[in-house]
Amino acid sequence: MLSTLRTTAIRQASRQTVAFSASRAASTWANVPQGPPDAILGITEAFKADSFEKKINLGVGAYRDDAGKPYVLPSVLTAEDKIISSRLNKEYAGITGVPEFTTAAAKLAYGADSPVLERVAITQSISGTGALRIGGAFLARFFPGVKNIYLPTPSWANHAAVFKDCGLTVEKYRYYNKDTIGLDFEGMVADIKVAPKGSIFLFHACAHNPTGIDPTPEQWKEISAATKEAGHFAFFDMAYQGFASGDTIKDAFALRHFVSEGHSICLSQSFAKNMGLYGERVGAFSILCADPAEKKRVDSQIKILVRPMYSNPPVHGARIASTIMNTPELNSQWLGEVKAMADRIITMRSLLKDNLEKLGSSHDWGHITSQIGMFAYTGLAPEQMDALAKEHSVYATRDGRISVAGITTANVSRLAEAIHKVKG
Ligand SMILES: Cc1ncc(COP(=O)(O)O)c(C=O)c1O
Repeated sequence: MLSTLRTTAIRQASRQTVAFSASRAASTWANVPQGPPDAILGITEAFKADSFEKKINLGVGAYRDDAGKPYVLPSVLTAEDKIISSRLNKEYAGITGVPEFTTAAAKLAYGADSPVLERVAITQSISGTGALRIGGAFLARFFPGVKNIYLPTPSWANHAAVFKDCGLTVEKYRYYNKDTIGLDFEGMVADIKVAPKGSIFLFHACAHNPTGIDPTPEQWKEISAATKEAGHFAFFDMAYQGFASGDTIKDAFALRHFVSEGHSICLSQSFAKNMGLYGERVGAFSILCADPAEKKRVDSQIKILVRPMYSNPPVHGARIASTIMNTPELNSQWLGEVKAMADRIITMRSLLKDNLEKLGSSHDWGHITSQIGMFAYTGLAPEQMDALAKEHSVYATRDGRISVAGITTANVSRLAEAIHKVKG
């Protein structure tokens, strides 16, 4: 009797299992594969899970002050107070955003007195990523000829993903020379020359991510000439204007040189780093047109692209950036704050190099100070980066990139010791 009951129970349970797995198999999303985790988020997770109190996170591309804390710029706080006390309404912005913001953003990039401003078609965007996305979509729809976009090797990891999702064919050009931990200038120019005529070339306007290696002004002039001769189109990604050298004009050199040489270009701008507005998602995408009439047509098509994407952008962050750029005292205060951020990073680079040399490292660490912007490419191998994390609680991406913004006067000597030990 007992065994009959048990057999019946087993049969019922197995029927339920079959029914359950049948319903699982029939799920609409049954064929969705598990995607790989985001590399940077994985580092943050590992960092959080480490209980060592002197652990160091050099993975995230966000500025930290010398106490290792996120930094809200005082000019941003003042602008925000001004906006809140104005009790502005929360109506929708137009499709291309807050006009006072886009006008100021164009001036910041192209130059306040630039004669080309009247033919710049510009739209507010969801920070730099959104600007790249609008740009990619515009090129996929309207760029004449082959829709190949050439990215530097390496490039910011999201570039390839954004442009592929826009339907462009992603190609590569040489950029980094691992033997010199410097720019492969000859390789870069050679690749520009051999790419099919009329291709799209993506250039990091300043503070190349992830290498921190920028061409010199003289090299940019040659890059511009080669790009022009090959009939290519330049897409500038300017995510760090002011953040690289501390000077917004100096950091716009490459872009402005191409413009002065008569290139037809487009541009992605981000205010995430230079104003510390990361989560506010403030950016702009612009296209330099041949004349105001062409600008009008391009403007109309940008609107047609943006409308079904997200209708119109959020206003708060754009109001902050606009208030800063359009209020002379706040603007000069902000320029001072950008310079202070850039200077702290430059100082941390020197300190790291000095500390490594003091430890007796025979390796040439000159690249740490010659590189620019938020990131330094250490030249460390993936296994050495693993050892940094496992043995020294120092977390960064396996490609050897460290965020210099995460270095402080308090942790630099421990960091240098850790690097010295894993480098051997
Ligand atoms: C080269 C480059 N482009 C674009 C971006 C876009 O950033 P965001 O979308 O936060 O403005 C970043 C951010 O790290 C970057 O490094």
